[in-house]
Amino acid sequence: MGLRNSSTHYGAVTKLLHWSVVLLFLHQYLGANLMTRVARDDTLLGLTQGDWYNWHKSIGLVLLVLAILRWIWRRIGGLPDWAEVLTSSERAISHRNERLLYAAMFLLPLTGYLFVMAGGYGIKLFGLWDLPNPLGKEATVAALARFLHILLAYATLVVLSWHLGLGLKKHLFEGTGFLYRMLPWGPRGR
Ligand code: HEM
Ligand code: HEM
Repeated sequence: MGLRNSSTHYGAVTKLLHWSVVLLFLHQYLGANLMTRVARDDTLLGLTQGDWYNWHKSIGLVLLVLAILRWIWRRIGGLPDWAEVLTSSERAISHRNERLLYAAMFLLPLTGYLFVMAGGYGIKLFGLWDLPNPLGKEATVAALARFLHILLAYATLVVLSWHLGLGLKKHLFEGTGFLYRMLPWGPRGR
């Protein structure tokens, strides 16, 4: 497998970025639902509520960096041709959904950042460094950003369900080996 995408295959860099983002997104959804349920003076798996929040914020910012790298790599490296097994309507919906997924990869960290900064909560990156707050307290901005953050997070799950569902349908039920396009192993030439 080459590093770059070719006209028929995704390269190693795209695959690494894709699956790193998937793992970190999983962490964000699970972590967010735990952190909002741990009591302020309680711990879960040895972490306080504050630790859970800090992990969510820190990993969220890592995701923003990955999203920027991924977008740049896609712009300079191009994409393989569409999989032949996709119908024209599946291509059209995938095209729109991939745009929405990129929007989510940028807007989720940005609204999260806006919320905690405008809310005056701040970010202690990985529990080590207090990031400067360039905004100052802005209650209305914080409330709006929080609303958008949570709305976007759950709306993104709808798009992700389609993305995942299409992959599984093509791979398992139609037996086309479609997922091998993005998996780091498996036969080539799909
Ligand atoms: C956070 C979760 C996910 C995000 C944000 C995401 C995003 C994307 C994006 C933007 C692409 C287009 C190629 C690119 O620009 O890199 C893509 C392709 C792909 N993804 Fe995902 N994805 C996610 C989860 C998954 C999962 C769980 C699967 C497994 C079923 C999957 C399977 C694929 C496959 C097979 C392709 C290639 C599609 C094609 O060539 O038409 N993705 N993904
Ligand atoms: C792709 C990245 C991110 C994802 C997928 C994500 C996902 C989520 C989800 C699903 C929730 C809602 C939990 C619930 O109440 O059900 C949430 C809440 C939250 N997120 Fe994120 N988040 C991301 C990035 C960030 C970043 C970068 C920050 C801050 C720097 C952040 C700060 C917060 C905070 C403070 C809450 C709690 C809101 C509240 O209930 O008061 N998030 N996030």
